[in-house]
Amino acid sequence: MSSAVVLYSSPHMDITAKQDAWLQQVAAAEDAAALAGLESRLFGPKGEVVELVRSVTSLPKEERPAFGKAANAIKQLVEAALRQRREGFEAEELDRELVAADFDPTEPGPRARRGALHPITIVQNELVDLFTSMGFRWEDGPEIESEYFNFDALNIPGDHPARESQDTFWLDDGNLLRTHTSPVQVRTLQRLVKAGFEPPLKVIVPGRCFRSETVDKTHEHSFYQMEGLVVDRVQKGADGRSHGVSTANLIHTMKTCLRVILERDVEVRLRPGFFPFVEPGFELDVNCPFCREGGCSVCKQTGWIEILPCGMVHPNVLREGGLDPEEFTGFAFGMGLQRVVMLRYGIDDIRHFMGGDLRFLSQFPEVAR
Ligand code: DAH
Repeated sequence: MSSAVVLYSSPHMDITAKQDAWLQQVAAAEDAAALAGLESRLFGPKGEVVELVRSVTSLPKEERPAFGKAANAIKQLVEAALRQRREGFEAEELDRELVAADFDPTEPGPRARRGALHPITIVQNELVDLFTSMGFRWEDGPEIESEYFNFDALNIPGDHPARESQDTFWLDDGNLLRTHTSPVQVRTLQRLVKAGFEPPLKVIVPGRCFRSETVDKTHEHSFYQMEGLVVDRVQKGADGRSHGVSTANLIHTMKTCLRVILERDVEVRLRPGFFPFVEPGFELDVNCPFCREGGCSVCKQTGWIEILPCGMVHPNVLREGGLDPEEFTGFAFGMGLQRVVMLRYGIDDIRHFMGGDLRFLSQFPEVAR
């Protein structure tokens, strides 16, 4: 502690000596409690320092200014010494607490959890990566769709029974929430053809679709599909025959896709399936991942799981898109993403996806740093 810095001698009072004494007492205080006691003795009501400052009134007039100034300076000095000593005790106290708590200030802080992608997003991203690596481009379309693109352009006229199988959310203005991603087939063809683009053309359309379904284990009103469309020009081969996009191309592409997504070698089989915008149309089945042989409840004892409706693009759809079906052929597929995700992760109820239950969602891998 510094010794007296205020030097003033009054014929009536040796205030420098008082100052020295107080500063010494501050320095000698043993702990915070002793310091608090000292503080109230000096600065409390009738405190020694307070009295000193007040005593100016008892002095002859001519001494008062110098005395007052010196007394105030001493007061400030003692206050500062007290504060400094108090802070010293507080720091010591904190150190003691930290040691007692076994606190290691060099230890890294708690790691913030990263959060995870939704399982549908995980699988969609993988599919997009896969298909773009095979030369497909990602197309998008509106979720509020016109009747024309959702139905008519896809060879589903107003009186067609296929409309009834799609329980549609109609809007007041005559538009609807798209029931599938297929409308983007004709949207894309029209746009590219108008822009002077010539196939070969390969697109995928991941997106959300809506149907007025009664929700249960396998049905949701909002669900995700990934549409695919491949169109190319018919060419004359060396054998004199015409070669266009073929069912073999379709099967190969679908097998590649399923192999990557299901992370195993797959067998597929085609059954006839009816969709007005393809001809022929197929239901593509994949061999059941849960039972190697014999059958189980997932594949309903058949050994096969229906996974991918697909087919060769109907001439009317190509025509609607602005292409001559004599010159161009193609294949299309419409994958239900939830179904693939359920197979991939062994999820047995489609309602988990939209349920917002963190116990479900937090089982998926954290996003990498
Ligand atoms: N859009 C059909 C549906 O949601 C699925 C579909 C079937 C899409 C065959 C296709 C296809 O592209 O070729 O039911």
